Amino acid sequence: MNTFLQYNPTKLYFGKDEVKQLSTILDRGKNILLVYGGGSIKRNGVYDHVLAELEKVDASVYELSGVEPNPRLTTVRKGVKICKTEGIDFILAVGGGSVIDCTKAISVGAKYEGDAWDLITGKAPIKEALPFGTVLTLAATGSEMNSVSVITNWETKDKLGWGSPFVFPVFSILDPAYTFSVPRDQTIYGIVDSMSHALEHYFHRTENTPMIDGFIESLLRTAIATGPQLLEDLQSFKHRETMMYISTTAFNGTLSNGTDGGDWATHRIEHAISAVYDIPHGGGLAVLFPNWLEHVAEEDPSRVKRLAVNVFGISPEGKNDITVAREGAKALRDFWNSLGAPSTLRDYDIDDSEFDAIVEKTFIKPGVGTYKEMDYDAVRDILKRSL
Ligand code: NZQ
Ligand code: ZN
Repeated sequence: MNTFLQYNPTKLYFGKDEVKQLSTILDRGKNILLVYGGGSIKRNGVYDHVLAELEKVDASVYELSGVEPNPRLTTVRKGVKICKTEGIDFILAVGGGSVIDCTKAISVGAKYEGDAWDLITGKAPIKEALPFGTVLTLAATGSEMNSVSVITNWETKDKLGWGSPFVFPVFSILDPAYTFSVPRDQTIYGIVDSMSHALEHYFHRTENTPMIDGFIESLLRTAIATGPQLLEDLQSFKHRETMMYISTTAFNGTLSNGTDGGDWATHRIEHAISAVYDIPHGGGLAVLFPNWLEHVAEEDPSRVKRLAVNVFGISPEGKNDITVAREGAKALRDFWNSLGAPSTLRDYDIDDSEFDAIVEKTFIKPGVGTYKEMDYDAVRDILKRSL
């Protein structure tokens, strides 16, 4: 194992009706900016629950609604402006990863004189942030318990991941019942995204990590067992809670303890695609990941083979490593397809016409891939396999 520091200051309140903790956590009489998306929280009652709690602490509530899936810099700027003009003390994000990521960018932008994009691109250092908490409504990204955010600048068509120790949520409230209303397609994307985070952690090159490797394999097997049952019954509390715990754990730092952190090339390529085409993140991953596995296996099948055997139960008897690895990549693709996830870029009407731009955008920050370092040709190869 590598040396590591385990640090995660986010307090997690997990379980039914835990929204009631809000009024016990928040200080009284504060100016609170409530950030949410396109209205799902008004339709499913979560908005009313949250406002009832904010009333109990005499909060002055300001609102920023309409955060887009794949949240945009323009919306971040709106939020920053409200924080600065209204003297906001605390931000409360109520929604999925997009709402939380937008809130993270607002929280640092509110404490910075210039444009928030400077902080996201790394042009200016992040020195402080407004504190914020979250009420999660969609199990997918892990943003509720990590210090990562992804923001799209639609003017330049760049989708950038960034992070800072200042943007861990102070707390996150996770009530699985709040995800009952997540539609089927978003539920599928959430399963794919969570599994992708686990898979990316899995592809590290650190020696002697049996505990983390076994943990990731167990998490993946649990997702494979739970996903189809959840899609049979979207109102199942027990399957919603399992997926919610999986998605948070898959990207809250736990899975990188003692390893080199894994290989996030697939996410980099997906972010580049969705910067150009604005497709759902989980949908893009479903297309790319099996092709990344095949690409990697052709050079070094060992880790993909282990995945095939330990997670998908593929028998290695009488087969060479590359055959087993290919069967593993196919098993992942078949599983996601069986849930209803897309398997080719053409499912999103994407052809090769923008491949040059996507490849360029993948390398917007240097260094893509660690388990398998990528160059332009390698990214192009994965895109071609994904057509
Ligand atoms: O906008 P509303 O009306 O809330 O509707 C949303 C949105 O349309 C809807 N939704 C959310 N909760 C719901 C619900 N609908 C009904 N009932 C509910 N309870 O679902 C749609 C998608 O929401 P979104 O927040 O965009 O999805 P997700 O959580 O998958 O977030 C995706 C974004 O997170 C980034 C992605 O790139 C993408 O921009 N990521 C962030 C990460 C992080 N911060 O750690 C890591 C990830 O790898 C990912 O890149
Ligand atoms: Zn993701």
